[in-house]
Amino acid sequence: MNKLYNLLSKHVLGLIALLVLASASAAYAAPDGEAIFKNNCSSCHKLDEKLVGPALKDVEKRRDRAWLAKWIRNSSAVIASGDEYAVKLFNEYNKTQMTAFPNLKDDEINAILDYVKTPPKDKAPVAGAPAAGAEDNGTMIYFVALLFLVFLVVYLLLGRVNNNLNEMVQEKSPEAFDKPLPLLKNRRFIGFLIIIATIFVGYRAADSAIDMGRSQGYSPDQPIKYSHKLHAGEMKIDCKYCHVGVEKGKQAGIPTVNICMNCHKAVGETVNGTGKEEIAKIKSAYENNTPIKWVRIHNLPDHVYFSHAQHVKAGQIACQTCHGQIQEMEVVAQNQPLSMSWCINCHRETKVQFNNNKYYGMYEELHQKIKDGKVTSVTEAMMGGLECQKCHY
Ligand code: HEC
Ligand code: HEC
Ligand code: HEC
Ligand code: HEC
Ligand code: HEC
Ligand code: HEC
Repeated sequence: MNKLYNLLSKHVLGLIALLVLASASAAYAAPDGEAIFKNNCSSCHKLDEKLVGPALKDVEKRRDRAWLAKWIRNSSAVIASGDEYAVKLFNEYNKTQMTAFPNLKDDEINAILDYVKTPPKDKAPVAGAPAAGAEDNGTMIYFVALLFLVFLVVYLLLGRVNNNLNEMVQEKSPEAFDKPLPLLKNRRFIGFLIIIATIFVGYRAADSAIDMGRSQGYSPDQPIKYSHKLHAGEMKIDCKYCHVGVEKGKQAGIPTVNICMNCHKAVGETVNGTGKEEIAKIKSAYENNTPIKWVRIHNLPDHVYFSHAQHVKAGQIACQTCHGQIQEMEVVAQNQPLSMSWCINCHRETKVQFNNNKYYGMYEELHQKIKDGKVTSVTEAMMGGLECQKCHY
């Protein structure tokens, strides 16, 4: 009798597994334009306002879907093809390169564009992590509720089977009657619950560790109201004039008060109001020989290795790709998540400017493959940029 019971419960448990799978895939089958947008695009695009890239709400009035799909999959190829609109747009945005998304499928791109055109009400997307987090919680609750329901139904079902079996046993041979086996003491069932819970929790933990944005949007008050909009934007001072390390080493570096004083010994005397007080702070720091205590904004954990020179000099990536339109910021805010998946996605997707770049001379094998026509473009991933030890000490 026990054997029969085990056999049955095995089948029922198989059924549960099927149900769970079915409900999970049902929840995730149709591409969710909003989620894809928030995960991939919202760090650079808003719907009705310019961010790093243009506002996207009316983008279909400017270009058709076929063009947009090509652009989203690989904007540099569209620009390189000489497409007039693309070249103009690229120049307008200071040659900031948009990430390529070669893996987005047609239905996913359509879902994004549908969402962008008519976003659901009350869910105006906000750039940055909080919106994405809230979204995640929503789907999580939905998912858990679904699981709960499934388990409840199965629990009742199994309970009935158990009772029926017991009745059968009692009818046939009352003396062989065992105590009914309560479901929650059924080790198989408990084991199954534990496995599902472990997979689920493990998956969520890994997912959030990888995707966790490190203080995206972080914008602390600074000891002096220094404005990039004024200095780097309106006055067009080169970023490297102040961030002197950017092409030479790991750190971009924050300028010392001496660099400010190169100009502020002479300029700013006629500034009034708060500007005057702020400039006075520079002078007092200079005269007292005390460094200005700028609050650090971008900060990777100690176990990560990141070098500006590699990206800016060898990789020829614009500051704005990783930092946003700094030259338009009164106060600097962190524009990108600086998460591991952010680094990795770019290493997978960005085609490095491989030809005529002396830094890549050493990759002879890759150069040969290009000559032989075996590969048409090279990503950082192909040069080992996904290997753990490249980024981790
Ligand atoms: C790293 C920042 C970045 C990310 C991420 C990004 N874009 Fe862009 N996007 C830009 C920039 C900058 C431009 C302006 C053109 C240029 O400089 O290349 C642009 C332009 C566009 C355009 C053309 C807009 C127009 O006015 O014609 C579309 C469409 C677009 N992006 C869609 C997307 C979609 C969809 C995603 C997500 C799958 C995305 N972008 C992710 C930076 C980004
Ligand atoms: C006149 C000097 C000067 C110029 C020019 C300048 N910066 Fe800065 N930058 C600073 C100072 C001072 C800070 C620290 C205070 C702050 O965060 O605003 C800073 C901070 C930053 C930060 C944040 C650093 C952190 O704590 O994480 C970034 C990113 C940055 N600058 C990028 C740029 C880029 C990109 C340009 C060119 C478009 C540029 N800067 C031009 C002086 C300058
Ligand atoms: C290349 C020259 C130059 C450098 C370097 C420079 N500034 Fe300026 N700064 C200016 C000029 C020009 C003005 C505008 C003065 C005016 O309006 O008369 C200004 C204005 C300011 C103001 C007042 C803004 C306002 O509200 O009117 C502050 C504060 C300031 N700078 C801080 C800094 C700090 C901090 C540094 C160093 C990190 C720095 N500047 C480096 C040229 C410079
Ligand atoms: C590939 C992405 C990327 C590019 C391109 C990039 N940065 Fe950064 N930047 C980062 C990251 C990541 C950090 C945080 C580094 C850390 O915590 O070790 C950072 C930190 C900084 C900081 C503060 C800490 C430091 O290193 O001194 C400044 C200032 C800065 N960047 C300026 C610039 C300027 C100016 C440019 C362009 C010339 C630029 N960055 C280009 C990703 C980038
Ligand atoms: C916008 C795209 C982009 C982002 C974001 C980016 N990288 Fe890169 N990275 C590149 C490119 C392109 C290269 C190739 C340049 C070169 O050869 O030095 C590169 C090279 C590197 C290398 C050198 C690998 C080698 O082969 O020696 C390291 C290490 C690295 N990146 C770490 C990081 C880390 C850590 C982050 C995130 C904090 C990051 N990168 C974010 C584009 C990016
Ligand atoms: C292109 C650069 C890059 C590569 C390659 C890379 N990582 Fe990371 N990793 C990062 C960055 C950046 C962070 C910090 C992310 C954060 O703090 O949000 C990180 C964080 C982590 C963390 C800590 C997660 C946490 O919550 O802080 C672990 C563990 C990790 N990486 C493991 C790996 C392993 C294993 C590999 C190889 C399969 C790998 N990484 C490859 C850039 C990289």
